[in-house]
Amino acid sequence: MKTKIVRINSDQKGLDKKQIQEELNALAQIIKEGGLVAIPTETVYGLAADGLNPKAIAKIFEAKNRPMDNPLILHLSQIEDIHPLVEDVESEILGKLDALWPGPLTVVFKKSHLVPKEISAGLNTVAIRIPAKKLTRDFIKACGVPLAAPSANLSTKPSPTDAASVLEDLDGIIDAVLDGGPTNIGLESTVLDLTAGQAKILRPGYFTREMLSAYWPEVDYDLALKNSQVIPKSPGQKYKHYAPNAKVRVYVGEAEAFSKKADELIKNTDQKIGLMLFDEDQPSEQAYETFSLGSMAALDTMAARLFSGLRYMDQKGVDLILVHGVKEEGFGLSIMNRLKKAASGNVYNLGGNE
Ligand code: TXA
Ligand code: MG
Repeated sequence: MKTKIVRINSDQKGLDKKQIQEELNALAQIIKEGGLVAIPTETVYGLAADGLNPKAIAKIFEAKNRPMDNPLILHLSQIEDIHPLVEDVESEILGKLDALWPGPLTVVFKKSHLVPKEISAGLNTVAIRIPAKKLTRDFIKACGVPLAAPSANLSTKPSPTDAASVLEDLDGIIDAVLDGGPTNIGLESTVLDLTAGQAKILRPGYFTREMLSAYWPEVDYDLALKNSQVIPKSPGQKYKHYAPNAKVRVYVGEAEAFSKKADELIKNTDQKIGLMLFDEDQPSEQAYETFSLGSMAALDTMAARLFSGLRYMDQKGVDLILVHGVKEEGFGLSIMNRLKKAASGNVYNLGGNE
């Protein structure tokens, strides 16, 4: 299969509204015919299919090699469209969601009979999100159906934050990619479960507990995020994830301590070591590759660059990636959630003032 690439970048001049709509309609036709189109969102690229068509949904699992018991998110263009998909939602909850959507928040509801079992992987719930990126919502509108869309990577690989990363994994396997430029957040949406009484964060993301507590004062992280013995309520949380081919180790601490540790490791091995570090760190001259995560003070920059950095190291043939990690607080907790998985738990504290 030849994967069609359609570029509609917000910085792109020369494409008028009518041309953009025509391009979107042509891609929407692929969805209506049961095909797969990778789409940009504000978080990561998604691999979209008609969320009400079981055959199209099955193609997503096949293309990604995704475990069948991992449910998919349905993406909508507007809040009104949730009603046929969920059991009654209280107007108080709708009011809160109206304030948070469109945005990088996925909400788990009790599902209606309309939701195919292939979406919810046998659960009686459904996860729904309205993306912030306008191009994404325009595309969903053009499709006229809810779009099932997991991250557009091969299962276990880092999520794609640009069209090139999607093609690295799925070129020739999917029908098309809508290239809307790099995503801005870089981590997947926060998954919030509203089905169990107390609001629970099943996957941390841009929206932290601190931010969501303005709406749900009792909101907390799912126990499984803190304790690996507990079975996660989001099936996706139990699988290997975000793993480049290279081994990954994460070190948390001050710039000086990280630089010292990196030097020491580089000196004592003949492996090709790649460093993903902050501008404040001293890059070792003997590192095989380095990749900047921006300033230590700008966690949003770190998040936006994280997955492309892991992919970059693989492209360069690095054996071992040393990543400068951050404190597990606020948005840092969401970043470390991804890094712990990428590193299969190989996270170390360098001590000092941490
Ligand atoms: O930002 C995002 O959420 C991206 C973009 C494309 O929208 N999508 C994404 O999808 O990350 P995916 O499939 O890679 O991750 C969805 C997560 C998984 O951890 C899955 O287990 C969880 O959401 N999930 C989906 N439906 C669920 C449900 N009914 N109950 C609990 N967790 C659910
Ligand atoms: Mg994913």
